[in-house]
Amino acid sequence: MPVAELNPKPETGDRRSAEVVVSIRGLTKVFKDFWNRPKARAVDGVDFEVRRGEIFGLLGPNGSGKSTTIKLLLGLLHPTKGHIEVFGHSPRHVQTKSRIGYLPEESYLYRYLNSRETLDFFGNLFHLDKNDRNNRAEQLLEMVGLGKTQTRAVGEFSKGMQRRIGLAQALINDPDLVILDEPTAGLDPIGCREVKDLIVALARRGKTVILSSHLLSDVEDVCDRVVIYYGGKIQAQGTLNELLAKPDSLRITTPVLPRETLEKVLAIIRKDLVSGEVRVDNPTQNLESYFLDVVAKARAANETSGAQSGARVAEYLRGGVEAKPAGEKVLEKLSLPQAAPAAAAKPVAESSAPKVDSSKLAALAQPTAPAAAPEKSASKTEAPKPADLSKADEKLSSLLGGKK
Ligand SMILES: Nc1ncnc2c1ncn2[C@@H]1O[C@H](COP(=O)(O)OP(=O)(O)OP(=O)(O)O)[C@@H](O)[C@H]1O
Ligand SMILES: [Mg+2]
Repeated sequence: MPVAELNPKPETGDRRSAEVVVSIRGLTKVFKDFWNRPKARAVDGVDFEVRRGEIFGLLGPNGSGKSTTIKLLLGLLHPTKGHIEVFGHSPRHVQTKSRIGYLPEESYLYRYLNSRETLDFFGNLFHLDKNDRNNRAEQLLEMVGLGKTQTRAVGEFSKGMQRRIGLAQALINDPDLVILDEPTAGLDPIGCREVKDLIVALARRGKTVILSSHLLSDVEDVCDRVVIYYGGKIQAQGTLNELLAKPDSLRITTPVLPRETLEKVLAIIRKDLVSGEVRVDNPTQNLESYFLDVVAKARAANETSGAQSGARVAEYLRGGVEAKPAGEKVLEKLSLPQAAPAAAAKPVAESSAPKVDSSKLAALAQPTAPAAAPEKSASKTEAPKPADLSKADEKLSSLLGGKK
């Protein structure tokens, strides 16, 4: 009988021993006006560290300093005070820049280039040779669901399609640090799920991801640690477990029990309970999972002129693992319990995987099924997170060029 431990596992020693990728100390940025008078204190005495393989979230209300921190990290802005190191160097170090992929909060695209030319242009900036550029562009466009709109000018893309091409552009140089400013803004729920799976798979391969987002459920699904900004200052920081766990209560999830069994169990619990309330309810699936399920069924019978669902993680990000149809691998991974993912991935209790609905698996195995299966975070739903990871992982294995 599966018993799910709902609290995420505590932070392991692996994180603490991993290489420091980003180190920020006392970082302050004050924007000044024409007369050099302080106009906005955007970032104010911020300290944090991000280690290799972590997914690190920057949260905070509008204008709280997230994008300014990102621009400082990229060397696009100079700090007023404080110290930043990325891979042990200043962010302006040219070699360091070539190890970073960046998705800006606004899409800056040449509107008359098509998506293929856009990726070719950015590949050129990183001095990739023509073959590499072509190869990567093809895989990335497939991965982000734009394989069928390669020849359309990006200026006529919808907002979500522009986000997708921006994401492909951020990965063209096979970066070790990926910085994503609101990566899921404007994406449909399928795209959101795909981007989240991609982020987790990148981290499993030892890439470091820093992202900002207002979509707290997305952050909760993927991030290992977060900082919460307000007024340019960090108000809270830690692993999601540290910030969200309620150590004074416990949740047990079981299949439906006969009434008599339930009463016996409740009687035992109440006997030993000194104070507090015992609550019994039915878990619900979240809206994301339900939506993805409905769309997967609709896709089987309908055409769309918009973005397709991304197929698989680009080969070159994957590291030489022989490509198998995504659905096939997912089926394998779902039916074979696997070892816990690398320290980089958000920890998930193996035992939380429910029995698999064979009709959903069949839908996943379709080549046209969304690359991101409708599973959800183990902390909120009962769907199997390990399957998410393996699917995105399978997509990614070669893009990462074996640099695990
Ligand atoms: N180039 C600039 N010149 C002057 N002020 C700026 C500039 N860029 C940002 N600011 C100010 O710095 C503060 C932080 O802005 P920032 O863009 O970092 O916020 P954010 O947390 O990313 O917000 P959002 O969630 O809206 O994207 C704001 O008060 C903003 O007006
Ligand atoms: Mg911003």
